[in-house]
Amino acid sequence: MLDVRGLRKVYEGSGRHVEAVRDLTFTVEAGELVCLVGPSGCGKTTLLKCVGGLLEPTAGEVFLAGRKVDGPPPGTAFVFQEYGRSLFPWMRVGQNVELPLKQKGFDRARRRALVADALASVGLADAAGAYPWQLSGGMQQRVAIARALAYEPEVLLMDEPFAAVDAQTRADLEDLVRRLWRERGITVLFVTHDIDEAVYLGERVLVLSASPTVVQEQLKVDLPPERDQLSTRAAPRFTELRTHVYERIRAAKRGGATVRKDTPPPH
Ligand SMILES: Nc1ncnc2c1ncn2[C@@H]1O[C@H](COP(=O)(O)OP(=O)(O)OP(=O)(O)O)[C@@H](O)[C@H]1O
Ligand SMILES: [Mg+2]
Repeated sequence: MLDVRGLRKVYEGSGRHVEAVRDLTFTVEAGELVCLVGPSGCGKTTLLKCVGGLLEPTAGEVFLAGRKVDGPPPGTAFVFQEYGRSLFPWMRVGQNVELPLKQKGFDRARRRALVADALASVGLADAAGAYPWQLSGGMQQRVAIARALAYEPEVLLMDEPFAAVDAQTRADLEDLVRRLWRERGITVLFVTHDIDEAVYLGERVLVLSASPTVVQEQLKVDLPPERDQLSTRAAPRFTELRTHVYERIRAAKRGGATVRKDTPPPH
């Protein structure tokens, strides 16, 4: 579904030259949920923006369903890192969720049905008439997720969507993403700097090195598909996997950035 080949991104301007992403190559299968984890500043947002066609790569290519990405591809939805800035404060929640559907040319009745369904999916059926600023941070992020869902994307790109919400809300939202992914068969690329979150959510985890970024390791998460915040996180295998990823990231921060190892940790 998604094919990233030799992606490189260098930011230039006002005398600065920042090589954010050096050389990233990976694929994501249709219907897969892949987490990208890497240290802060390693270029995760940059990568996701290139995948979503919001930024042009300096080198390399991104293919989505076989087509080269050269602008926001249809069928892709984005949930941004800063939910506070991703909703329009002058529009009600329902209008925010409906906005991208107008672009799809759906009639009013169809738009209304999709909005209601998406808000119900995230547990906000009653919030359509509220303004975003009347909601808590976690609720606003659920609105952003509902907006992405209403669009009925094939590919959902999520950039540290829960970084700014409290632990309990975060756990609920993680379970929401897993549930929606399983129900809807969407392909999800989920970026986080939280190792436990990456292992809990993902079917596969790509560990990124520190900037300039390469894929340091790809790890299959061999936990059962039915996950639970208490029992999964207490499982010995979960601890093994998260310890392994933690060690790889620590090595990356120490500068072992070019080491690449694709072997999963032993059982
Ligand atoms: N528009 C820009 N112009 C110049 N440099 C930029 C720009 N955006 C990002 N960078 C630089 O690129 C590097 C990677 O930034 P990016 O935001 O992609 O990292 P990140 O992994 O998402 O970080 P975080 O975990 O803090 O969100 C950083 O060094 C950053 O300063
Ligand atoms: Mg970021």
